[in-house]
Amino acid sequence: MKKLLIITVALLIILTGCKTVIEDPDVDLPDIIEKDPEIKGVNISPEKVLAGSGEKVEFKVEAILEGEKTIDITSDMKFSSDTEKISFENNKALVGEDAITGEEHVVIAEYIGAEEVDIDLYATIEVFNSLEDTIDENGVITNPEAYDMVVNKERNLSSQYVPQDLVKLEVETCLPNPEINQLRKAASDAITKMFKTADEEEGLNLVARSGYRSYATQDSLYHGIVNKYGQDYADKYSAYPGQSEHQTGLALDITAASVNYQLEDVFGETEEGIWTKENAHRFGFIIRYPEGKEDITGYLYEPWHLRYVGENLATKIFRQDTTLEEYFMNKE
Ligand code: DAL
Ligand code: ZN
Repeated sequence: MKKLLIITVALLIILTGCKTVIEDPDVDLPDIIEKDPEIKGVNISPEKVLAGSGEKVEFKVEAILEGEKTIDITSDMKFSSDTEKISFENNKALVGEDAITGEEHVVIAEYIGAEEVDIDLYATIEVFNSLEDTIDENGVITNPEAYDMVVNKERNLSSQYVPQDLVKLEVETCLPNPEINQLRKAASDAITKMFKTADEEEGLNLVARSGYRSYATQDSLYHGIVNKYGQDYADKYSAYPGQSEHQTGLALDITAASVNYQLEDVFGETEEGIWTKENAHRFGFIIRYPEGKEDITGYLYEPWHLRYVGENLATKIFRQDTTLEEYFMNKE
């Protein structure tokens, strides 16, 4: 009995003697120190990660000990995000189907091991919906509703695809056909805001010319150009049916009185065109077919063709001075 007491006291002395002071004054870890006295800090991993819609990301939190040793304290953490687009099941984050490429969401991990301990760790999930994951074996796009979808000469829309939330444009238009004076709701709201801002900030009057086009409309437009100018020219200027962004209801050709409401390269040099190039991203639009990028996009320069991709992605593409194709290719 006496022997047992001595051993216990000796053990207590050793244990208390081992307690080291945490070097980082911002990290208060008494409860974790109970588990291991040599903790020097905490770490979340991954700290920054790319993840697509429907994908799960597993986070791990470790306490860092003297030397290279770590202990896993993930189960002592509660995870949450700054957005409803990311939901959690314990330490696994699920990226929502409505998450758009280019968005960056914060993940917060709070220590729940003991009330007096206050540790918050932060990580970032950058949304990236890979092109490989959004096409089927026939080259048909599987996410036509997504604002970050990519349609081009390699990626087709189904001939049956019709967006479900088309609305009548609220901005000034210059052609009578009601079909083309429509866009999807988010794109329409964004263009209303953009045209209003152009007017308020610079007194510029932008006009919508051609928005949504059905598969059938694109079919007759494309074949009309082939008949008039030949296939080579048509393929650089007009999309083959099923390959036009106009079928998504997320693309709009804009113009102005200064170019007589036409779609001409010179629009890019007008005050309206320059303002559009510099500001469209603020409203979620990109100039989809920039000058000098014909080899990448497959189409001649179109300073008038705007594509809605959401503000985050539009701003990234604008700042990188790149194209939608290159943005995805560089991340793959
Ligand atoms: N002019 C663009 C490429 C289209 O037809 O969709
Ligand atoms: Zn267009």
